Amino acid sequence: MLARLGSLVLCAFQLGLAFTIASPRPLVLWHGLGDSHASRGMLDFQDLIKEVHPGIFIHSVWVHEDANKDRDAGFYGNVDVQLDVVFRQLSSVPELEHGFDAIGFSQGESSGMFLRAYVERYNYPRTYNLITFGSQHLGIADIPECGTYDFLCKSARRIILSAVYGKWAQENLIQASFSRTMAHQTDVQSKAQYFRDPTRYNDYLVANMFLTDINNEIPGQRNATYQENLKSLENLVLIIFSEDKTVIPKESAWFGYDEITDDAVIVPMRQQPIYTEDWIGLKELDETGRIVFGVCEGEHMQLNGCWREYVERYVGSVV
Ligand SMILES: *[C@@H]1O[C@H](CO)[C@@H](O)[C@H](O)[C@H]1NC(C)=O
Repeated sequence: MLARLGSLVLCAFQLGLAFTIASPRPLVLWHGLGDSHASRGMLDFQDLIKEVHPGIFIHSVWVHEDANKDRDAGFYGNVDVQLDVVFRQLSSVPELEHGFDAIGFSQGESSGMFLRAYVERYNYPRTYNLITFGSQHLGIADIPECGTYDFLCKSARRIILSAVYGKWAQENLIQASFSRTMAHQTDVQSKAQYFRDPTRYNDYLVANMFLTDINNEIPGQRNATYQENLKSLENLVLIIFSEDKTVIPKESAWFGYDEITDDAVIVPMRQQPIYTEDWIGLKELDETGRIVFGVCEGEHMQLNGCWREYVERYVGSVV
């Protein structure tokens, strides 16, 4: 009798174990500028993912737990400080301790970049599949369009384009944090982190602190850890929006970019120095078939269900 009870307990234990083992790998979502970790859109998206992968644990990254402050952080925060907050957050969530898949998902375009920075700089707990939607991996060469007759917009845009390195560089080199009183400059600042003028490439190399760093773009300052960490991904899934007018050029989502000094030509990833000289591990990822080039038809972040096939394939593997 006792023996039978014992085997019943053992059986229940094994079932429990089997259940724990056979659950989908957790997912980390990161929203971007102008959204928050608890917005309607983020919550709806989580529900849809849970339909695809029942029982999946999803952690939506926050920089401030208060949803309103969280939205502001996208605009006002210093990226390096935010990344550190997020690293400590992810490493303190017990469900994530064995690793996760990650999606940069947002109306803005930075979350994929932040997640890539997390992988390169920390990756503890580790990331398996990283999916980025319409990210500006090699930067943006232009600030999105103004209407044809919107002259106010056009002059503002011209000012932004001419001031971007000077002001932004000074503020960042002298003091590494953005002030809330500079709210009117936030758009410049948020764009400036990714602005990589092909006709003023040297100014960019000197002034830009974030993109040059995570792309290991500056000779003599390349960090081998970034490369090791990125290469440890199972898959790097890069999704482009076919009609993207927010990320210019849209090919930045695939690590393509305007040719430096000749912005009429788009140079694809495999011909970019970041790849040919393998600054961050893209070459090895690609040669082992671990870079996935995905397309969503339409404008920036018009997902229209096209996320589904990537979430089915690269999220929530049973582990
Ligand atoms: C390289 O990156 C790692 C991870 O972020 C960091 O710990 C290390 O200090 C960096 N090395 C240098 C030389 O900056």
